[in-house]
Amino acid sequence: MKKIALTGIKPTGTLHIGNYFGAIKPALELAKDYDARYFIADYHALNTIKDPKELAVNIRQVAAGWLAAGLDPEKVIFYRQSSIPETFELTTQLMAFTSKGLMNRAHAYKAAVQDNAEKGDDPDAGVNMGLFTYPVLMAADIILFDSDVVPVGKDQVQHVEMAQDIAQAVNFNYKQEVLKVPQAAVQESVAVVPGLDGRKMSKSYGNTIPLFAPEKELRKLIMRIVTNSQGVEEPKDPEASQIYLLYKLFATAEEQASLAARYRAGGMGWGTAKEELFRVVNRELSPLRERFEAIMADPAALDATLERGVEKARPIAAATVRRFRKAAGIDR
Ligand code: ADP
Ligand code: TRP
Repeated sequence: MKKIALTGIKPTGTLHIGNYFGAIKPALELAKDYDARYFIADYHALNTIKDPKELAVNIRQVAAGWLAAGLDPEKVIFYRQSSIPETFELTTQLMAFTSKGLMNRAHAYKAAVQDNAEKGDDPDAGVNMGLFTYPVLMAADIILFDSDVVPVGKDQVQHVEMAQDIAQAVNFNYKQEVLKVPQAAVQESVAVVPGLDGRKMSKSYGNTIPLFAPEKELRKLIMRIVTNSQGVEEPKDPEASQIYLLYKLFATAEEQASLAARYRAGGMGWGTAKEELFRVVNRELSPLRERFEAIMADPAALDATLERGVEKARPIAAATVRRFRKAAGIDR
């Protein structure tokens, strides 16, 4: 029996190259060895996105993005969180086993409170209960599907640990293994992808290269990468240049060696390096972009794909909720 890997993807914006190398590619790699369950965490996104059009577009684009990047919905159970009502029943069940103190310690909530303190605002200004209880909903997402491992970025490890705590509290109380206790799987080897300005590529910094940018826009963005004032003739250090760091993600070993040598030799300007970067990025992303556009052009087929995922997911989810009800004395 294969172990179960599960992860949620929050549809809060357009996918970028950082998401691709930091989350999508590693998760698709993992899906080769695990029974994978990957879903769109749309109710998590609702905590921050209140514009219905924006949220609807994000959900569709992120779902299409994963499919275009190679997620095979025949092999991976792929669904929307909001399509699984059992998620919300399990959330309520877990609430009774989650101490408020645990939620007080969650990084995202603490950061919001601290932000308010620095501004002299009320500590809970702008904090909704969705943000405060975010880790419980996430624990339900995870526990519902008997997950063994949860591939996540470092920032999400605390949430997975909270899911462990909560599952253990349930099992301890009922003196039986009602719920499976999950483990986080952090890909230490995944490099932080730099953005156009050299900082970590992130939506919140506005420095991203969208994964499905049309060719023209892709080129324009790459030409906007910030460089230093070294002249054409000067030898340059490839590892100190985000053009080269991005290049390494897309180029073959020979291409990397050759561009690094041109950096060190001098005589190559930043414009030339950017052209070379555009060439390899576009080479890898063109087929993805074409698939993405085809999927986006057929919303009915996309919905049907997600619905098939729901059909496979719900029996698993229902079994977990039933197990809990039985253990808790709420069985019907
Ligand atoms: P953003 O920082 O743009 O808001 P998210 O926080 O939504 O991105 O990230 C979604 C996933 O993509 C996470 O697993 C995160 O670790 C990964 N990720 C985001 N940006 C990068 C990056 N620059 N390099 C590597 N991984 C990243
Ligand atoms: N909180 C995760 C993030 O911000 C998204 C998420 C929701 C998730 N539910 C999950 C990740 C369950 C892993 C497992 O990226």
